[in-house]
Amino acid sequence: MKNSITLTVLLIILFLLSSCKEELDVTYERYSPEDYATLSETLNIDNDLLDYSFVFPKYYNSRTLAMNSDLATLGRVMFYDLNLSDDRTISCASCHKQELAFADDKAFSDGVNNRQTTRNSLALGAVFNFAEYYGDPNDNRIPFFWDNRANTVQEQARQTFANVDEMNMPMDKVMERVNESSYYPILFREAFGDSEITEDRILDAVSEFVNSMSTYESKYDIELDKHYEQNFSLNNIENASFSGFSDEENFGKQLYITNCGNCHGRINGFPGKIEANNGLAMDYADTGINGSSMFKVPTLRNIELTGPYMHDGSLETLEEVVEHYSNGIMNHPSLSQELRNGNQARQFNFDDTDKAALVAFLKTFTDQNMLVDERYADPFK
Ligand code: HEC
Ligand code: HEC
Repeated sequence: MKNSITLTVLLIILFLLSSCKEELDVTYERYSPEDYATLSETLNIDNDLLDYSFVFPKYYNSRTLAMNSDLATLGRVMFYDLNLSDDRTISCASCHKQELAFADDKAFSDGVNNRQTTRNSLALGAVFNFAEYYGDPNDNRIPFFWDNRANTVQEQARQTFANVDEMNMPMDKVMERVNESSYYPILFREAFGDSEITEDRILDAVSEFVNSMSTYESKYDIELDKHYEQNFSLNNIENASFSGFSDEENFGKQLYITNCGNCHGRINGFPGKIEANNGLAMDYADTGINGSSMFKVPTLRNIELTGPYMHDGSLETLEEVVEHYSNGIMNHPSLSQELRNGNQARQFNFDDTDKAALVAFLKTFTDQNMLVDERYADPFK
């Protein structure tokens, strides 16, 4: 009797264990086996869900930004798809490379049909997160492009697709290319519930992917979070010495916050100014925002990776940029107040120690994780 009870208990335990095991083996599968086989002919996407949502750091607001991961996956494929350009040689990623914080390393980028862009590619990893900062300037948000001419990624992407120097694809042509592929119907069904392909759906998908990009794990972010945890605020960051920083980086931080932060953002977040002229020349070949010779004030995340610098890629290195502010600012009529001394252009006259410290500090903005995050990587085989 005792034996049979033991046996029953044992059997029950075994049964429980085996059913547990079965449950552990069941992984979530997004696509049917046939669909996954079709996708796998061209793409390297996981069959389980990559979550595109993310959590902002504590010093910001610890909030979770929920993203539609199926929509972002569709957008990711489009972002890397050469077929969406006129001569099938260029994708968004040709000019926005993950390993370079989604910028490229040329003054002007190569587009379709051997053409070139007329401005330096903007790093998509230059902001904390597009969805968080970008939008209508009337809502005090930053618009897109060096001349701030688009308020949404949808509008930005429509212009970029159509631009003869970039992809040369008006939306009807983009639709044609999307329609000819074997993988898009499946990805559209996954994202929208049916495989109808429309312009708005295409642009929404690109937008969801671009808006899901986020960069908040640089050395600077980590130190800011520590400072925030200890002080429950970011007050006094100018003078705070970050324990994870070298003396040089801490000194660079002070110089940056005092001299650059009012325009580029004191805590490397929202820029203090949306547009400005920083005295690159007396005569601007490209006159920027409404012919004013003013340009977007870029935030400087991942700046180490995104040279050459400025809208025209005219400065090769961070050392050259610091040299420009030190004693190269030109007294252009549009030169912004922060860079003036009365009627004259201000020269910061940094000494060698200052210059090296500024550059060392700017390098703390680099987020290595973003550069290898598989959610943003090329999905094509
Ligand atoms: C041929 C190179 C090239 C291609 C292809 C390209 N871009 Fe760009 N991108 C640029 C350049 C150059 C700029 C800056 C243009 C300007 O300001 O007028 C830019 C700007 C942007 C911006 C604005 C960023 C900001 O901070 O204002 C976004 C977003 C963007 N591109 C996303 C995309 C997406 C999405 C695609 C694909 C649909 C794409 N790009 C394709 C070169 C390119
Ligand atoms: C008046 C506001 C202002 C101040 C102050 C200012 N900048 Fe800028 N900065 C700009 C503008 C505007 C641009 C883009 C100019 C262009 O391309 O025509 C820029 C561009 C840059 C770039 C290149 C960004 C890129 O993506 O190509 C770097 C790096 C930079 N600034 C660093 C600094 C540093 C370091 C300081 C302090 C020593 C500083 N800036 C002070 C307005 C400012």
